[in-house]
Amino acid sequence: MSAYSSDIGADTSWPTEATRRMNRMYRWQRHIYDGTRRYYLLGRDQLIAGLRPSAGASVLEIGCGTGRNLVAAARLHPDARFFGIDVSTEMLTSAISAISRRGLTDRIRVAHGDGTVFDPQALFGVPSFDHVMISYSLSMIPDWRRVLQAAASHLKPGGRLHIVDFGNQERLPDIARALLQRWLALFDVTPRDDLERELSAMADTAGANLKFERPFRGYAQCAVLTLPPEPRTP
Ligand SMILES: C[S@@+](CC[C@H](N)C(=O)[O-])C[C@H]1O[C@@H](n2cnc3c(N)ncnc32)[C@H](O)[C@@H]1O
Repeated sequence: MSAYSSDIGADTSWPTEATRRMNRMYRWQRHIYDGTRRYYLLGRDQLIAGLRPSAGASVLEIGCGTGRNLVAAARLHPDARFFGIDVSTEMLTSAISAISRRGLTDRIRVAHGDGTVFDPQALFGVPSFDHVMISYSLSMIPDWRRVLQAAASHLKPGGRLHIVDFGNQERLPDIARALLQRWLALFDVTPRDDLERELSAMADTAGANLKFERPFRGYAQCAVLTLPPEPRTP
């Protein structure tokens, strides 16, 4: 399997508005993205370490950006296969070159897709995944609840959804919290204060297990939703 530029070739079904918005945001930033975000997108490496995929397992990242997480995960978990989608073709250009530079084109594939609605069978020839990860993307996607539903619907029975994102910083000093929120707004980032409630409701409906944490004094929120081995019968 390879990551080819043609994977993100022209297609009239592209989610053009979201693509335009994210391309505007990342056209130039993508060149400094990995160097700068390492200091404040906290918890990504813990998420990657916590994947622990079994041999041959498939892992999808929704909103894979520059491919930083996919590359790190593929190196840490050499027996798994990795897939990524992103709505920004600018970010995908960076991802494709990072994957290629690291010699990982046989283990990581990326494609253009919108996390709110995507068809992994059409994109990758894979109907569902053992793991789906979403790292600092829900806070940039207006219809983030739909992304959660889409992610869960493309998990195999017993599969796991791993999330890390900005929290509501409840245990940070007021001044730090106010500055941080103003700064995040510049990047169109909205911490999803309802994330735990939304995931709890999903867990109840599906009979899934939810682990939820707010590390770094609430700076981040992390979740792992584990589906039951057999889907719940109505
Ligand atoms: C802050 S970056 C996070 C990138 C990467 N996950 C990381 O942890 O470094 C957010 C990413 O979400 C992507 N994104 C935004 N809206 C999206 C959507 N509707 N579907 C898929 N990706 C989206 C952006 O293009 C961007 O690459």
